[in-house]
Amino acid sequence: MNLLNLSSRHEPRRLRRHPAMRRMLREHHLRAADFILPVFLVEGDGVRTEISSMPGVFRHSIDSALQLCAEAVARGVSGVLLFGVLEEHCKDAVGTLSWDAAGLVQRAIRAIRDNYPQLLIIADACFCEYTAHGHCGVLDAGGDRDDYATLENLQRQAISYAEAGVDIVAPSGMVDGMVMAIREALDAAQHPQVSILSYAVKYASAFYGPFRDAADSAPQFGDRKGYQMDPANRREAFREMTLDIQEGCDMVMVKPAMAYLDIIRDLRERCDLPVLAYQVSGEYSMLQAAARAGWLDLQSSVLESLLGIKRAGGDAIITYYALAAADWLG
Ligand code: PBG
Ligand code: ZN
Repeated sequence: MNLLNLSSRHEPRRLRRHPAMRRMLREHHLRAADFILPVFLVEGDGVRTEISSMPGVFRHSIDSALQLCAEAVARGVSGVLLFGVLEEHCKDAVGTLSWDAAGLVQRAIRAIRDNYPQLLIIADACFCEYTAHGHCGVLDAGGDRDDYATLENLQRQAISYAEAGVDIVAPSGMVDGMVMAIREALDAAQHPQVSILSYAVKYASAFYGPFRDAADSAPQFGDRKGYQMDPANRREAFREMTLDIQEGCDMVMVKPAMAYLDIIRDLRERCDLPVLAYQVSGEYSMLQAAARAGWLDLQSSVLESLLGIKRAGGDAIITYYALAAADWLG
């Protein structure tokens, strides 16, 4: 063996030996401010019901959601993403309650605004939690989504959120033209300060399974493949992003995260807007289940998955682990 040669080989390990060296040279960091916590809201008082497919995640009445907001503020989490969960008898064919000025989400926005002005309030704008058929909008006679009618309702919904004091409207229905319609409506109604976070790149994913259970928003027939993206497509994500930027969105989102890290990276490199990533319900429950079975260490696997999203290019992360992760980061 040629010893001289061996002694001059490259040794990347030299930079990993000392803990301070590792700390100093770390390329990416997680902070509590990176996180947004999704919150499921229900009517009632003192309600806090665990979601069976998402152990550790609860449906909250507004008073209980406020306690969650207090924890988010205490930990430095940046914001909350609100979803309203309705009882069956409150739903109809178009989702009328979703733009009611006194609706569940609108009341929650007001309560959070009044109590925790430090927190960013983001409202998911869609209809699947409000329609009896569970699709993300108005359906035509053939059961296909009527995008034009849906856009008008999205405008109503966005304005009602803005009037309640929302900071960010986040349309999640993958309706073509949704960003333009919402921007126009917000501006016309004198809410130019409200931003739009577009679920620009939302795949038709199996990882939404637990959410549909949590939000009681599963389609009663068919699926969402007619409007959400095909998981096989990468180029199409660029097109979706470009259109939403042209329509005036302020931030774009990729969803889900873990199976789409390449897409997060693509978007990060190909636009100059903030790119957010949504670590969805299925990603939450997978890690939770493996940890509960004793197969994975929860803290280190969750933090690793979040760091992976950050490294891929996510500027902020919507995650059900927001409070836990903020805690672990200290
Ligand atoms: C509704 C909506 C969904 C999610 C966020 N908004 C479900 C869906 O599109 O079926 C998924 C979130 C998650 O799985 O955590 N349009
Ligand atoms: Zn929807």
